[in-house]
Amino acid sequence: MPEELPVSGELVSEVPRPQLRDSPFLAACRRKPVSRTPVWFMRQAGRSLPEYRALREGVQMLDACRTPDMITEITLQPVRRHGVDAAILFSDIVVPLVAAGLDIDIVPGVGPVVARPIRSAADIAALPRLEPDDVGFVADAVAALVGELGDVPLIGFAGAPFTLASYLVEGGPSKSHERTKALMYGEPALWEALCEWLVEVTTTFLTVQAQAGASALQLFDSWAGALSEADYRASVQPHSAAVFRAVEPLGVPRIHFGIHTGELLAAMGEAGAEVVGVDWRLRLDEGARRIGPGRAVQGNLDPAALFAPWPVLATRVRDVLAAGRSAEGHIFNLGHGVLPTTDPDMLTRVVELVHGEQVIGRSPDEVPQGLIPPAR
Ligand code: CP3
Repeated sequence: MPEELPVSGELVSEVPRPQLRDSPFLAACRRKPVSRTPVWFMRQAGRSLPEYRALREGVQMLDACRTPDMITEITLQPVRRHGVDAAILFSDIVVPLVAAGLDIDIVPGVGPVVARPIRSAADIAALPRLEPDDVGFVADAVAALVGELGDVPLIGFAGAPFTLASYLVEGGPSKSHERTKALMYGEPALWEALCEWLVEVTTTFLTVQAQAGASALQLFDSWAGALSEADYRASVQPHSAAVFRAVEPLGVPRIHFGIHTGELLAAMGEAGAEVVGVDWRLRLDEGARRIGPGRAVQGNLDPAALFAPWPVLATRVRDVLAAGRSAEGHIFNLGHGVLPTTDPDMLTRVVELVHGEQVIGRSPDEVPQGLIPPAR
């Protein structure tokens, strides 16, 4: 870890700002009692919002991600519109890689494309270091956002080493991750070296966000579900765990998420985050059981359910809430990101329903958020 990063929790306390003392999101992350189930949506800032599409008109994705005013405005849009309980920084998982100097483009409709994929020992040895100042535009945006958000916490995020490695090794999005796995299985020393570089980049990027004022950090290992549990434990979990250990002294809750991870949930939980996200393929009560005690869960409405008629959607929302009650803490979310063609009004209605259910649906003697008794 670079020297300038903090080594103790002194910079960020458990609740960094007085306005956040009553945040249901932060309480649920820490498995404390909540006044209502908190809700936010992965990819809540993005193409589902007309105000986002208007602002992005003629602006390249990576340019938007480098411009603090744009980051700030786009991050705030879903908070204003939906009344969600957390904001997530508008950025992309490849932003720190680009900031470090790699030639990566975000191609509309495709995703990140790497000009020169990283596959050899020489490629890995030549990887540039990411200095905190290289992502100063993110620190500026976070600082501005913290001022604007008031009592709504900001989630910072980064891609996990495996998911980032997949883009770097494949050269772009991949369904089967064959070159990445070939490197992991066949060249373990190179794989270790690549992941060690990614651990450092990711740690730096997350630390910059938390030091600038982000109140929680989510590590996206979106594609980890492509691995068997044995391979995940042997070659991936240690690197994600290294990131979580490195950011632990910052004192903010850590969230870990990937899709197709039903078989990996226990192992992902053991990587060290306080909160584990579950995709929609598994009921949340079963997800919580697999993750085990001592963690909160986040999820897991099927993003496609937002396209169903309201009564059908409402039933599914209530079902997610019911399944989430068996967890020690539950943050309502989708099982993956908001689909670009989602009607944003449906998202607003889901927020209203989630917030209303808690107040109306719970009897006074029912213990909120699983089994944690209220603080005395
Ligand atoms: O709504 C939008 O998608 C518009 C902006 C946008 C983002 N990333 C924002 C983002 C665009 C066009 C991208 C490019 C990109 N990067 C894609 C989408 C390709 C496409 O056009 O459909 C993808 C898959 C990536 C890689 C990526 N970025 C991954 C795997 C993740 C982790 C989350 C996930 O989806 O699994 C990201 C994070 C990301 N990209 C966030 C945002 C705002 C942050 C997380 C969030 O808001 O939940």
